[in-house]
Amino acid sequence: MTDPQIVLTERVQQALANAFGSEHADADPLIRPSQFADFQANVALSLAKRLRRAPREVAEALAAELTDFPGKVEVSGPGFLNITLDDSWIASEATGMLKDPRAGVGTVTPPRTVVIDYSAPNAAKEMHVGHLRTTIVGDALARVHEHLGNSVIRQNHLGDWGTPFGMLIEHLLDIGEETAVAQLEAGMGTEFYQAARHEFDSDPEFKARSRARVTTLQSGDPDTLRLWHVFMDATIHYFNKLYSMLGVTLTDADIAGESMYNPMLDQTCDDLQAAGVAVMSEGALCLFPPGFTGTDDKPLPLIIRKSDGGYGYASTDMAAIRYRVHDLKADRILYVVGADQALHFRMVFAAAQQAGWLPDTVSAEHVQIGMMLGKDGRRFKTRSGESVKLMDLLQEAVDRASAAIAERGYDEATRAEIAQAVGMGAVKYADLSVSHDSEYVFDFDRMLKFTGNTGPYMQYATARIRSIFRRAGIEPAQADGAIVLGEPAERALALHLLRFGALVDQVARESEPHTLSAYLFETASLFSTFYEECPVVKEGVDAETRAHRLALCALTLRVLETGLGLLGVPVPERM
Ligand code: ARG
Repeated sequence: MTDPQIVLTERVQQALANAFGSEHADADPLIRPSQFADFQANVALSLAKRLRRAPREVAEALAAELTDFPGKVEVSGPGFLNITLDDSWIASEATGMLKDPRAGVGTVTPPRTVVIDYSAPNAAKEMHVGHLRTTIVGDALARVHEHLGNSVIRQNHLGDWGTPFGMLIEHLLDIGEETAVAQLEAGMGTEFYQAARHEFDSDPEFKARSRARVTTLQSGDPDTLRLWHVFMDATIHYFNKLYSMLGVTLTDADIAGESMYNPMLDQTCDDLQAAGVAVMSEGALCLFPPGFTGTDDKPLPLIIRKSDGGYGYASTDMAAIRYRVHDLKADRILYVVGADQALHFRMVFAAAQQAGWLPDTVSAEHVQIGMMLGKDGRRFKTRSGESVKLMDLLQEAVDRASAAIAERGYDEATRAEIAQAVGMGAVKYADLSVSHDSEYVFDFDRMLKFTGNTGPYMQYATARIRSIFRRAGIEPAQADGAIVLGEPAERALALHLLRFGALVDQVARESEPHTLSAYLFETASLFSTFYEECPVVKEGVDAETRAHRLALCALTLRVLETGLGLLGVPVPERM
């Protein structure tokens, strides 16, 4: 591990133990980046209080222990330790990182099984832009865990079951299978749903047929099931088009929709009832996980079997959590789902714990996705107020990217080549650069800018380093010599690069891809400064300096490529 903050933490902990006894070996030395040095450790102040000694004295004692240290330690102010690392240490760590094909990113041993529930659009309702976010954030987390060596099980919990399917199937029969399939494959699921809904509300005969169809579907009637499959296959066909346009890693093998749990629901309810966790209340079978009360102070129910015997969203999630822990053997389950479902998941997790289905060794976490807003600050809609067809939205991103590229003077061929990557990169990066639980304004103009913390800027910054190598006439992999530091801008860049591995760990731990975006953006900014101040392939740069600097360029490129790859943001070769 080369992360300076982690290295320093260990060193200062050692010093703490040496100076004040081993009981202090685990204390947090409170190391933070500092404007007066590379880092500052503030532990002396808090420790002094406990030891009833002067903070400065405590700091001096620590500094005295920090000999054989790859840097300079100074006591300042009331008792801060100002730590400045030696250039030679930073350079040799960076050189080591360049030799490591994983660029300082470790692997988890033993690997853990991480189940990631993400995307999960609904087939019987409209797929809305919110699902774009659950898809993009979930996919980034899947990539990060996979890269760390965890065994990732993707679960696309499609909304593919429930009472609306009665009317959807009847509508499918009315317009004919072929027409229905064509509509659904073209992404007209919302229109299809609305047409069915309209019939249902206006035509009593259709309504009666639809209700009867729900019953035949639930009883497993083969003809009805076939029609359901026709509907679902066409819908999934459209989802797959979106996934491939976006470049997300979900495949049909990851589909584990609500319908998959149907055969488990009776048993799920029976077991919960037998365990005394589920009880009958007003005709329905309910869970009352402790600690949840409504506005009237009455315990809040999670209904797992309605009074008419029907099952719903909560029943499925109880079956799903048991399946994920027991059958998939999850160590960790991430639910990348809208923030508006927070209460639902807290109750599901609490009930699963109560039932003994979620042992302490397994963590279930709701990665809350904030709502996507339009520029007007309200829920994202088209100008005419309808919800947006996602494929149109993505296509618009590509078209606008193409126009933005043209404005920057690229030729026709380059435009055609990179518009797709720039458009999708812009959409994805915009999602990944704000914290996943905050609301987020979908704004084409902002996300397609070539400056600031945007996808196109990050792609451009990466492509620019590649072009340096083209000019130098070597492949990045050939720049494998030592990194040597002279200029402050080189030093700042190298010090920052050393944090990469620890940062990826942190993203996995905290499920926050936006910290990786912020880190990569800073990498690009530091590189920009370096490149302004330190010529690399210009005339007059001696061969040795050029080699050192190309090595630093190569490491930066590796970090940017790896990082953007983990986010799922494509990087065009040239820009
Ligand atoms: N289909 C749901 C929705 O669109 C999300 C499903 C999330 N996963 C789950 N296990 N409940 O809101």
